[in-house]
Amino acid sequence: MHYEPAARAVGAITPTILQLLTIPRKDTGMAEYECFKVDVADFVATVRLARSPVNAQNRRFREELITIFDVLSDRPDVRAIVLTGEGKTFSAGADLKERPGLSQEIGAYPRHNRIVRESFNAVMECEKPVVAAINGAAIGAGCVLALCCDILVASEVAYLAMTEVDVGLAGGVSHVRRFFRESDARLLIYTARRMSGPELYRMGVVSECVSADALLETAQRIAHEIAAKSPSAVRAAKRSFNVTEDMPLREGYRFEQSQTVALASTEDTKEAQRAFAEKRQPVFRGG
Ligand code: COA
Repeated sequence: MHYEPAARAVGAITPTILQLLTIPRKDTGMAEYECFKVDVADFVATVRLARSPVNAQNRRFREELITIFDVLSDRPDVRAIVLTGEGKTFSAGADLKERPGLSQEIGAYPRHNRIVRESFNAVMECEKPVVAAINGAAIGAGCVLALCCDILVASEVAYLAMTEVDVGLAGGVSHVRRFFRESDARLLIYTARRMSGPELYRMGVVSECVSADALLETAQRIAHEIAAKSPSAVRAAKRSFNVTEDMPLREGYRFEQSQTVALASTEDTKEAQRAFAEKRQPVFRGG
């Protein structure tokens, strides 16, 4: 099956690159990627950042990230996603070796910023919940990428750091605020200090902190737990988190009630309620 990416960042991607990114592989329907490895099994997609040596984020990386998450958002055989890094680093953030050329060409910076934003948005706006399995250093844009996920799990050797103040850059305050309390958020950003997996667990930033060996299994267990639920209800729940983030409680709950009304007529909801009455496991079809 061939899945077209959504048009979210099409303005930023040349037709040649789009064609390259959408050549489907026979076994999974996913394209071959230069910076990622993607596997789908039992309704769970595992996306591995695979741009050696440290998964630094350059233009190609970001364009592929957008395409992958748009495709996974649409694929009916994917209900939850795990995002992890290959090697010992999750992501060293922006590719600092690509940056010097940016300010030399007119329009290059706005275009660069647009792609950076959309690469993060692609993960946040993906219809399926994303579990970050933070395997090592997640620095700057690497830290932000992890914080775009829905649920965070870290290995004991992992750490988050926002080193922008070390390299004269800015960015990520809003993403950091989603998971850190204000004082910890400011500590992370003003000091560029490394905050380790165990420390992040104590702060309540990550849901679990496990040994490096157990990390992927832990994240995939959570993803499978989500994948067993009504796909329509999970999608509605993620939409509610995203849409109500900046709403007052009154408006937020009203939005959620409208989600419930829309869900009530779906086959998944009817099946869930039939299964409950018949004391059996529901069989969801994703509609
Ligand atoms: N962009 C481009 N290349 C990077 C990079 C980045 N953000 N971070 C590291 N690299 C490169 C290094 O230059 C080195 O390249 P080389 O082998 O050609 O010299 C290679 O990746 C390996 O880096 P190294 O520092 O030797 O590996 P390490 O395992 O000791 O440390 C990190 C890994 C990620 C902890 C460390 O490289 C680091 O702190 N990087 C900077 C992260 C950063 O400040 N990002 C910007 C945020 S705004």
